[in-house]
Amino acid sequence: MSIKIGTLILKSRVYVPPMAGVTDLVFRRIVRQVDPHCLLSTEMVSSRSAMARPQARIMDLAADEHPIGIQIFGHEPDIMAEAALLAEKKGADFIDINMGCPVPKITKGKDGCALMKEPELAREIITTLKSAVFIPVTVKFRLGWDDDSRNAVEFAQMAEEAGASAVTVHGRTRQQLYSGKADWSFIGLVKKSLSIPVFGNGDVFEPQDAERLLGVSGCDGVAVARGTLGNPWLIPRITRYVEEGVLDDPPDDIERLIVAYRHCLGLVAYKGPRVGINESRRHLTHYTKGLRHSAPFRSRLTQIKEADEALSILVELSERLGGKDARQRFLVGVQNDYLEYGKHPGEWHGNSEGCVQPPVDLDSIAPVAEP
Ligand SMILES: Cc1cc2nc3c(=O)[nH]c(=O)nc-3n(C[C@H](O)[C@H](O)[C@H](O)COP(=O)(O)O)c2cc1C
Repeated sequence: MSIKIGTLILKSRVYVPPMAGVTDLVFRRIVRQVDPHCLLSTEMVSSRSAMARPQARIMDLAADEHPIGIQIFGHEPDIMAEAALLAEKKGADFIDINMGCPVPKITKGKDGCALMKEPELAREIITTLKSAVFIPVTVKFRLGWDDDSRNAVEFAQMAEEAGASAVTVHGRTRQQLYSGKADWSFIGLVKKSLSIPVFGNGDVFEPQDAERLLGVSGCDGVAVARGTLGNPWLIPRITRYVEEGVLDDPPDDIERLIVAYRHCLGLVAYKGPRVGINESRRHLTHYTKGLRHSAPFRSRLTQIKEADEALSILVELSERLGGKDARQRFLVGVQNDYLEYGKHPGEWHGNSEGCVQPPVDLDSIAPVAEP
């Protein structure tokens, strides 16, 4: 049965939820290339910053990304409502409110998971946003602040009453951060107490984990975050496994390296060489994790200064993995990417960090309405 988030009807039960510093436009387009239907989200966006810099690209969506939500955080209902309106104008299919972020920088105000300690303020935020926008409003939160205050069930009921159209629940408390194991049974208690769709979240790294989470919790869908790092193929593999019971093989090593390089090129092209390379280092190490013989290559990838360096390291690694044929296949795959991205990174002549270059087909970016 398909999941309905308000008026939005989903063709997939799998969701790639917000990850700050990860789920940017380049990452999302790679996910979209391998999975046409999963639900996507932007990184979390500060509602205050969005209002101060409405032209910032963090809310930019490409035309082929839907269904996609924009996640906002904050604690001031009126400012959040304005940010939600902006997100709606940018073309989001839904607004997700972050009530689960555990990071002290965020919670020390009343943002993120701190709102689980202020359910009345959280209610006011949801109702205010709900009446400000036409698109559905969803909420993402944890089991509670700590083990003595696991209030996810009551919190979720409040969210539904206030007008939320779906919730995503990470099966840990704020105090746990990422320690211990996500408690899928507790997420099941939330699911049982609501009539809106619930996405269960936490510790899904293989298709079989997703199936178990759905079984244990009874959730409508599953949200998969860290498992997608360097591994966007996990999403279509989960879809196939939970829908058809078929366990597809992960991609082979060379395919992985081709996409790793594509990701690096995309970041350089979209964010400029300095930021793009900086962010690429982390992604490249994720893509190469677990590959045979890759440790020394990975340590070199953490120090690259330009995309051409990544290219030569990945060429060497492909040869180490599968000899001359593998090297040739990698180069042919990458050559196709040059065509796709339009420019060899070595020929990138942009002089501004803010410059937008391919791979983003600028014509395909949803028009940005001026607020
Ligand atoms: C690098 C990183 C950034 C994250 N940023 C956000 C965020 O912006 N908003 C949010 O609601 N959750 C964020 N999360 C939490 C994830 O969405 C997810 O709830 C959590 O990682 C548990 O799921 P997982 O076990 O599948 O990773 C982030 C997680 C990671 C690893």
